[in-house]
Amino acid sequence: MNVKIVGTGSAVPKLRVTNDDLSRLMDTSDEWIKTRTGIENRHLAVEETTTGMAVEAAEKALRQAGITAEELGLIVAGTATPDRFLPNLSCEVQSALGAKNAVAFDLSAACSGFLFSLNTADVYLKSGFCKYALVIGAETLSKIMDWSDRSTCVLFGDGAGAAVLCAKEADAAAQPEGILGTVLGSDGARGMVLRCDNRPVNNPYVKNDTALSYVSMNGQEVYKFAVKTVPRVIEEAVKKAGLAVDEIDLFVLHQANYRIIEAVAKRLHQPMEKFPTNLQEYGNISAASVPILLDNVNNHGMIKKGSKIVLAGFGAGLTWGAAVLRW
Ligand code: ACO
Repeated sequence: MNVKIVGTGSAVPKLRVTNDDLSRLMDTSDEWIKTRTGIENRHLAVEETTTGMAVEAAEKALRQAGITAEELGLIVAGTATPDRFLPNLSCEVQSALGAKNAVAFDLSAACSGFLFSLNTADVYLKSGFCKYALVIGAETLSKIMDWSDRSTCVLFGDGAGAAVLCAKEADAAAQPEGILGTVLGSDGARGMVLRCDNRPVNNPYVKNDTALSYVSMNGQEVYKFAVKTVPRVIEEAVKKAGLAVDEIDLFVLHQANYRIIEAVAKRLHQPMEKFPTNLQEYGNISAASVPILLDNVNNHGMIKKGSKIVLAGFGAGLTWGAAVLRW
């Protein structure tokens, strides 16, 4: 069975906040943010919601796939910032789209959320569960940022990306297409380097004065983790797909930091031209980074039939994942 991406879509909030805008709110500068991370702007939700952006991205992906919402058998959304605890984001998207035949659930794996969701949908589709699946990465990270902590809040943005997957019987005479190999991993023992605690318990039996928690991060530990783990995971996934790293046309990586992407390219001995980026415009959007970038390169004609693409995500958990596709 081949499982292919047949449509992509994305959505970001209207409000575009530059580094200079932030420097008027806190002690930071365009120079510091740009040289340390490559980020120049981010889009922040004002009226937009995680659900609203996910629905917009999904509608675009469905349009490109040329299918109706009713044809979807599965919706999986990777998110750390749904609008509610209950119902889940995927069910809200299902309702808004009218995807009444789909099973819908969320998956929490932070910046690897889209990769984990993609892998889950791939396995469901390859098992014959349904023909079409919608995979989403959507975040409103601005609501969990500590806006008094300049070392984290300048890095992140809001947005959503989506992809429609289609399962098709493989043609034995042709080369395999679609998702050729995936690798996922986790290391909970190192989880506290990037965290955001849950809201304080406040039942009648618990006395709790804890304040609401926001994202906190040991940036240097995350940096070291990323530059070590990502090249290794990509190499493993490429090998699993039966390809060599040199054969890959595009590496669509999680958009955390330009220096991380450069370090990965260097370790893989690949030119930066193979690593498209959009973090300059959107910052780090956790689970939404990879599907938004995939949609951007897809719509800019950078992917052709037969292109070999790596998708890779990494982040809190710690979690990481890579997938290799032939388009
Ligand atoms: N503006 C100005 N100065 C700042 C800012 C800011 N926004 N933030 C921190 N500083 C200051 C610090 O206070 C510190 O000052 P000091 O030397 O007087 O104490 C100085 O800059 C250096 O701070 P460091 O934290 O050591 O800066 P570093 O060079 O490590 O860069 C960064 C920080 C960009 C976060 C880096 O560690 C990094 O890229 N880490 C990777 C983590 C990452 O990208 N995470 C994203 C989320 S996780 C994920 O998506 C995978």
